[in-house]
Amino acid sequence: MAFLKYALPALLATQAVFAADCGDGDSIKIENQSDADGYSTCKTLKGDVEVSEHYSGDLNFQSVEEIDGSLNIDGAANMTSLSAPNLESISETFQLNGLTTLASLSFGSLTTVKSIKWTALPNLQTLDFTKGVTEAGSVAITNTGLTNLDGISLKTVGTFDITENVQLKTVNVNNLKNATGLINFAGNMDTLEIELPNLVGGTNMTFRNVSSVSIPSLKELSGQLGFWGDSFQSFSAPNLTETADLVFNDNSKLNNVSMPNLKTVNGGFQIARNDKLSAIDFPSLEQVTGAIDFSGKFDKASISSLKNVKGGFNMQSTGNFSCDSFDKLHDDKVIRGTYKCKSDTANPTTKDGSSGSTTSGGKASSTSEGAAPMNVAPMPAMGLAAIFGALLAL
Ligand SMILES: *[C@@H]1O[C@H](CO)[C@@H](O)[C@H](O)[C@H]1NC(C)=O
Ligand SMILES: *[C@@H]1O[C@H](CO)[C@@H](O)[C@H](O)[C@H]1NC(C)=O
Ligand SMILES: *[C@@H]1O[C@H](CO)[C@@H](O)[C@H](O)[C@H]1NC(C)=O
Ligand SMILES: *[C@@H]1O[C@H](CO)[C@@H](O)[C@H](O)[C@H]1NC(C)=O
Ligand SMILES: *[C@@H]1O[C@H](CO)[C@@H](O)[C@H](O)[C@H]1NC(C)=O
Ligand SMILES: *[C@@H]1O[C@H](CO)[C@@H](O)[C@H](O)[C@H]1NC(C)=O
Ligand SMILES: *[C@@H]1O[C@H](CO)[C@@H](O)[C@H](O)[C@H]1NC(C)=O
Ligand SMILES: *[C@@H]1O[C@H](CO)[C@@H](O)[C@H](O)[C@H]1NC(C)=O
Repeated sequence: MAFLKYALPALLATQAVFAADCGDGDSIKIENQSDADGYSTCKTLKGDVEVSEHYSGDLNFQSVEEIDGSLNIDGAANMTSLSAPNLESISETFQLNGLTTLASLSFGSLTTVKSIKWTALPNLQTLDFTKGVTEAGSVAITNTGLTNLDGISLKTVGTFDITENVQLKTVNVNNLKNATGLINFAGNMDTLEIELPNLVGGTNMTFRNVSSVSIPSLKELSGQLGFWGDSFQSFSAPNLTETADLVFNDNSKLNNVSMPNLKTVNGGFQIARNDKLSAIDFPSLEQVTGAIDFSGKFDKASISSLKNVKGGFNMQSTGNFSCDSFDKLHDDKVIRGTYKCKSDTANPTTKDGSSGSTTSGGKASSTSEGAAPMNVAPMPAMGLAAIFGALLAL
């Protein structure tokens, strides 16, 4: 707009013609292919493109290179394909919702979009995005038929939220180096394998119901790292040095967690209900600003570099791990706050009294012995219950 103010009159005139033909900032309504063809001389559409819910069949934006606004299609249950072979960028949201028969999405030139919001596209199995979207402020893909996310080739992203895509088998975002918002996977195909080979930094990352997560380059997270209900046997984060809250909960096959360089947990660290995890070893972990809360069936627990735990300590297992080193750390005031260490206990519980293993089940939480003392104990400033409650609500 500022540009227009100072532009030459001739340019102004061109701009006016251009505006009349190609949208003037108001929404551009598309009922049928002829409506779309009416914009065939436009390289840039100015305004939000709104496609009618009654659109039926195939829709093609042949020559458009840029949408200066959103592309929004809501409820067009009879739209079968959507293509825009020359479209390079969408300055606002690319939103598709309830396109239940859409089987083809072809955007061969698209690289930049402010946000992607796709929901309820059950027949969409692949993306035909030849160049690939490399920049997106946020990506949310829910309840689609996609089997992979090839075409989403992000280098940077804000939020990356991928949920309830029950055919989704693999996700490899090879170019992604840094995520500035939440990365979340939940409720997708239970054999989903996720590879983020070059991701170095991020904020919050949560993984539910996935079968593998590969993050070999991850170095530092300013937010939480959490794993719930995942089916991998081993997890490793070889380069991770620092994270906020760290959670492994209810991963029934997990038998090996390897984080050899993890030094700092800026928050709580919980391991619970991972029944196959028989040994716990975090050789470099020095500092935990919240509480350490490990419960399960492990026979070994070692945190040999520990220097400071601000928020309390709860370690309970049906296994025969030794409390000796932790008792000493408690005596030495390395571990402050509430302290509890119990090996060979039939019903290990978490700090808040819920069951620490799946086989000791509901029994543990229903006995007054398990729950009562924990509730009486004052919660540290970074109370785990609150933190994990917030996480679970995501
Ligand atoms: C396309 O929709 C417009 C309304 O947006 C209507 O005026 C026009 O007749 C329709 N064209 C065809 C071919 O259906
Ligand atoms: C889709 O097509 C069916 C059959 O022609 C029709 O009954 C239905 O109303 C259409 N849906 C929409 C959203 O236009
Ligand atoms: C990370 O998660 C916490 C707790 O759920 C939330 O307060 C915070 O805003 C999140 N940060 C980002 C960048 O998403
Ligand atoms: C990731 O992006 C954030 C925000 O732009 C920035 O503060 C941080 O330094 C970046 N991290 C890496 C490893 O590039
Ligand atoms: C892990 O960190 C080391 C040292 O910073 C670096 O040389 C190596 O390339 C990193 N590995 C990966 C897979 O990023
Ligand atoms: C997904 O993970 C959650 C834990 O976050 C668990 O309660 C749920 O049962 C899992 N769903 C499936 C289908 O495994
Ligand atoms: C656990 O995984 C790490 C890294 O993948 C590996 O080096 C280590 O040998 C494994 N430990 C066991 C006990 O299998
Ligand atoms: C602890 O239990 C494991 C099997 O659960 C056994 O192999 C090991 O010898 C036991 N260690 C001690 C010190 O009792």
